[in-house]
Amino acid sequence: MDEFIAGLPKLELHLHIEGTLEPDLMLRLAARNGISLPWADEKSVRTAYEFDGLQSFLELYYLGASVLVTEQDFFDLTRAYLTRCAAEGVVHVEIFFDPQTHTARGIPFATVLGGIERALQTGEKELGISWRLIMSFLRHLSEEEAFATLEQAMPLLDRIHGIGLDSGERGNPPAKFVRVFARCRELGLPVVAHAGEEGPADYIWQAIRELQVRRIDHGVRCAEDPELLCYLADTRLPLTVCPLSNTRLKVFDQMAHHNVLNLLEQGLCVTINSDDPAYFGGYMNANFQALAHELGASMSQLCRLSLNAVEASWLSLADKARLTREIRSHAACHGVVLS
Ligand code: HPA
Ligand code: ZN
Repeated sequence: MDEFIAGLPKLELHLHIEGTLEPDLMLRLAARNGISLPWADEKSVRTAYEFDGLQSFLELYYLGASVLVTEQDFFDLTRAYLTRCAAEGVVHVEIFFDPQTHTARGIPFATVLGGIERALQTGEKELGISWRLIMSFLRHLSEEEAFATLEQAMPLLDRIHGIGLDSGERGNPPAKFVRVFARCRELGLPVVAHAGEEGPADYIWQAIRELQVRRIDHGVRCAEDPELLCYLADTRLPLTVCPLSNTRLKVFDQMAHHNVLNLLEQGLCVTINSDDPAYFGGYMNANFQALAHELGASMSQLCRLSLNAVEASWLSLADKARLTREIRSHAACHGVVLS
């Protein structure tokens, strides 16, 4: 099974680049930039990664991101993630970055974007990984601050492929950002939003109706609303689900209780992603393995999850057709019959 997963072409559509900062790189960048952290070695960093929910994770995640200062830091971070993708059979990535986490510390927007983009371009050439870049607004901040960030991004907007919404969900509903998302859509940018991770099913409806999202990030709490389940199955509006993230942040108490396969069997376009893999104990293959070993996912279901990611991606039709063929051929080589 693990070999089958490793060879399956995979696409990652829900990944925060700041969430790929491994403890060793975090400590190296802290030393390089003269930034002090409360940890002396990798082991004590990892010991701190015990979360009781989204908020306790976000506090560490923003602290970790404080070591990212120069364009080279953002390049090194992104390059390390892409090297990992290449080793794991990930062929396409659509990644989030959080400009406000950095501009609030005085790091120029162009420094952040420049380092990430240079690594993505190099990675495409050297590792063959295609990519899109999604700028995310922090929802614990105000809509005015999101507008100010959009203003800073204006001269660079042709290098950004979409807009997202992340950070603490409870008490920060999608509707809080209805005007800035309308402006982003007017500018021709597709929008997505985290919803229904810790927040209720109603936040998923808000993201759909008020923000007009192309995908929902997480969305697993849709299971609480039968009408929403029907809507998602009928429209195939994708959900980017992150199994290891959900168990580490206690959205589900254990993997055996995760609902992603139920959603798949109800006809929803669910996909598998790693979210913040340095913090949640695994990249794409670890997420697929958890589904296989702890939830009993079949090879056929894993292939369908990967095919869903092709459907949900922002790739061209030609690239989608090529990746569909590659996934189907991997399945056929292993005698897997796809419905
Ligand atoms: N949820 C919300 N905000 C985030 C996450 C997440 O899982 N990861 C990074 N920012
Ligand atoms: Zn996320």
